[in-house]
Amino acid sequence: MRIRHTGLATGVWLAVFYLTLLPFVAHGVGMIGIGLSEDAAQQSYLFADDQFVGNAAMLVHILAGTLLVVLVPLQLLKGLRLEYNRLHRAMGTGLVALALITGLAGMTYIPLRGTIGGPVMSAAFFLYGLCLFTAALMVARMALARDRAGHWAWGLRLFWLALGSWLYRLHYTLWYLLTGGLGSEPDFSGPFDLVQNFAFFVPYLLVVQVWVSNRRNAHHGTLATNP
Ligand code: HEM
Repeated sequence: MRIRHTGLATGVWLAVFYLTLLPFVAHGVGMIGIGLSEDAAQQSYLFADDQFVGNAAMLVHILAGTLLVVLVPLQLLKGLRLEYNRLHRAMGTGLVALALITGLAGMTYIPLRGTIGGPVMSAAFFLYGLCLFTAALMVARMALARDRAGHWAWGLRLFWLALGSWLYRLHYTLWYLLTGGLGSEPDFSGPFDLVQNFAFFVPYLLVVQVWVSNRRNAHHGTLATNP
């Protein structure tokens, strides 16, 4: 019964997640179309004339990042993980590669082109890229070392970081619905924008940290009482 409830809740979450993801994916596909067109720089500030590396980095970034967000929730599904271990490994390898590429391409773009929000946004997004890159490396390292607890902890971090780009837009959408955009400016210089530069990944990493520590302490407690 419990399993059925959990399965239903997971199904509802996935359905809501993929529905909210539709406009995001459509936007990503649209931006790739613009990036590949002849007059990309006229259509979006993300692309510039005569800047092959920056433009290519942004194109690769959007493509890998969109695939990453679409696929990452499937990796956490318990049924798939336990019953189809080879699929979990194959998808995991692909997700690690996508996360490394997304992070690297973003970190290549930032020094070349900066960001629309200026230095604070550039620094925050670069830090986000570093976190994603590190989590991807660590989750693979822990899997290869057969460290299950470590793989689980880094897997959770990678999951929330991979969703970061979606969370960033989700925060903005909810905030605009609730307040009409209080403290947010078109050039991303408002107080809400400054907080958002970090609020889409730092709090989530902190919650994961507390969660992981609690689980570890509970596990040690069990070991202490049941030698
Ligand atoms: C994890 C999945 C990610 C997805 C799906 C994603 C997707 C996107 C998309 C669609 C854009 C274009 C935005 C627009 O049209 O205005 C973009 C821009 C950008 N992304 Fe990502 N991204 C991801 C992760 C990251 C990471 C890890 C970094 C940090 C290295 C990063 C840095 C940037 C930067 C600097 C821009 C340009 C910002 C601007 O000036 O407007 N992204 N990303």
